[in-house]
Amino acid sequence: MRTRTTPTPPPHPAASVPRSRRALLRPAAVAALSVLLAASVTACGQEAKGGSRYHPASNKGATIGIAMPTKASERWIADGQNMAKQFQKAGYKTDLQYGDNQVDNQVAQIENMITKGDRLLVIAAIDGRALTDVLAHAHDQGIHVISYDRLILGTPYVDYYASFDNERVGKLQGQYILDKLGLEKPEKGGKSYNIELFAGSSDDNNTKYFWSGAMKVLKPYFDTGQLVVRSHQTAMNQAFTQQWDGGTAQKRMDDLLTKNYGTDTVDAVLSPYDGISIGVLSALKSAGYGSKGHPLPVVTGQDAELASVKSIIRGEQTQTIFKDTRKLAAQAVQMGNAVLNDKKPEVNNTTDYNNGKRLVPAYLLNPVSVDKSNTHLLVDEGYYTKKQLS
Ligand code: GAL
Repeated sequence: MRTRTTPTPPPHPAASVPRSRRALLRPAAVAALSVLLAASVTACGQEAKGGSRYHPASNKGATIGIAMPTKASERWIADGQNMAKQFQKAGYKTDLQYGDNQVDNQVAQIENMITKGDRLLVIAAIDGRALTDVLAHAHDQGIHVISYDRLILGTPYVDYYASFDNERVGKLQGQYILDKLGLEKPEKGGKSYNIELFAGSSDDNNTKYFWSGAMKVLKPYFDTGQLVVRSHQTAMNQAFTQQWDGGTAQKRMDDLLTKNYGTDTVDAVLSPYDGISIGVLSALKSAGYGSKGHPLPVVTGQDAELASVKSIIRGEQTQTIFKDTRKLAAQAVQMGNAVLNDKKPEVNNTTDYNNGKRLVPAYLLNPVSVDKSNTHLLVDEGYYTKKQLS
């Protein structure tokens, strides 16, 4: 059981001098000794770790450990690269690792960052609940932690959280479905539409925020019968897509179509992420949707991944949520830079993200809904080039 609550600062060089001798040292001698020891500590660091790391008296030039979940999705590749670039520009070194969606890999990578002496960890967790022990270890070494995009749960050792307004993401997806089906128009009062629901991975804290945002918007229409879930799979735990995997979503959609849509058609699919949308669309196309006289349903998404934006332009996926990873990276860098300099980072939410051990101060960015009518935004913002989208 750990009882310590304050971070342990890195040892001061003079700490290695026995107490009896320290008491005898005069100020000038202490200063000289400090310089000497500082030089030798730096030299040791260089020798052992193959390059100068950080000045022991400050975090200038320190190494930042960046632990991202997977390279299977473009967004995390961009997140990692953007952060590395921006931290380096601010004068730090970076150690960027991807966990291949394996919790054990990510834990080992973070352990390794701690051992190598990284001074700050920025982590997008694979499993938000699996980092308690490794972060207790980081805390013992006085290492700061920023939770990136996904909140790390069940540990007090998370300093700050940088993310998007995750509930708003869900609301934008739900609202898009209402708008596209015209459900808020009085003349559609009597008409009902079929919808199926997908949720994200159960180990990702964001999943429940996306889901609850979408449900806040959609539930009133389930209640009036204007939206019908023919599969009756309306609980989040029936709709989970482990690891956010497109193949898993494709299989579930195949199954939903076979079992519930013999002669009927599905009009909308709530998908929380582009990778899932791609899987859902494959299943729909195999079942004949998207052919003449058999249009595809409204399919939402998230991340504005290139394949999905192209699919939107082709008229397949209907919508995505654009979350500018460059801006999220900039927030994490702002936060990291502040904590490493003993300053308070800028936050804009101190009430919504309780990780079970503490309310984690957060900076939440604004997500933006994108469909065929405004994909130009991605080019205007320099997120993609015109050529990439053509
Ligand atoms: C979530 C993230 C989404 C999406 C998803 C799958 O945590 O907020 O934007 O990337 O993971 O990678």
